[in-house]
Amino acid sequence: MGEAGGGRQRILSGMRPTGRLHLGNLVGALANWRGLQDDYDCFFMIADYHALMSEYENPAAISANAREVLIDFVSCGLDPERSVIFRQSDVPHHAQLHLILSCYTPIGWLERCPTYKEQVQQLKSKGIHNYAFLGYPVLQAADILVYKAHLVPVGEDQLPHLELAREIVRRFNSLTGARALVEPQGKLTSSPRLLGTDRRKMSKSYHNQIDIADEADTIRKKVRSMITDPKRIRRDDVGHPEECNVCQYHKTFAPDEADEMAEKCRTAAWGCTDCKASLADVLVEMLREPREKRAELEADPERLKAILADGADRARAVADETLREVKNLTGLGGW
Ligand code: TRP
Ligand code: SF4
Repeated sequence: MGEAGGGRQRILSGMRPTGRLHLGNLVGALANWRGLQDDYDCFFMIADYHALMSEYENPAAISANAREVLIDFVSCGLDPERSVIFRQSDVPHHAQLHLILSCYTPIGWLERCPTYKEQVQQLKSKGIHNYAFLGYPVLQAADILVYKAHLVPVGEDQLPHLELAREIVRRFNSLTGARALVEPQGKLTSSPRLLGTDRRKMSKSYHNQIDIADEADTIRKKVRSMITDPKRIRRDDVGHPEECNVCQYHKTFAPDEADEMAEKCRTAAWGCTDCKASLADVLVEMLREPREKRAELEADPERLKAILADGADRARAVADETLREVKNLTGLGGW
């Protein structure tokens, strides 16, 4: 397997800038990404072109959200010194490779993609149906392939996109007779999915999320509103922690104490109010550092700009080589 500089394998992942990130993003992605920096060369991308596909009527939100995501990335420990943190639209190579790869991608592959079928259903109600959406996974493939990334940490929902990226690589490599592109593998997070405060999927659209940037008071208020074991109505009813979302949160954020807390629930040794107050303490403490780092970054817009400028430079240097190689193989330029 071809290896990146320093002999380490290369990782790329990205997020669409749709707003501030929440605890689900932290558990499902950021905490994992943070750890990967020790062992891999990491590229972390703010996928603003992907956001434009659905948010094109509200461009101001895209750039404001890209800034929020950058702040969340850095304040949660993605390190701009060690990793390449960049914004997709700052590196034109993604768009160029997307166009080239689209020539190697049969439309049927895209129409069959489960996420596309789902999107079409969902977006019809919003009146969104554009040409770009069909090519969403091709752009995502370009994001990955332009850095020859080996591993892509993503959620399960993204696996069909990685399968498609591999199919595109195989077709491209076989038609060009070279092995220029690298087949990327998905890398799933082991942590279980964190539900929102109302036990539905955590999502801004349900207003059931706890943001990484939330202030202590807001966190406490949201935790107090969490839905608990529906069978535990009065303080002296025994509880069923395995059916309670608050208990799941304890397991995720205070694993060492979770058993003891579950036992106190089961025996009605404490009430839901105490249990939630304890969870809120854990979350407030855990998010203290990100909150402080966010305040620092917000006060220093030049630093944010410098991080993106440096990230774009380092990303472009790698992307440039791949694009040159690909253009040579596809008859574009070359003399
Ligand atoms: N599609 C991804 C998501 O919605 C975001 C994304 C864009 C991405 N480009 C990527 C993820 C490249 C991994 C690699 O979560
Ligand atoms: Fe849930 Fe805690 Fe109440 Fe038990 S005590 S039902 S775990 S909130």
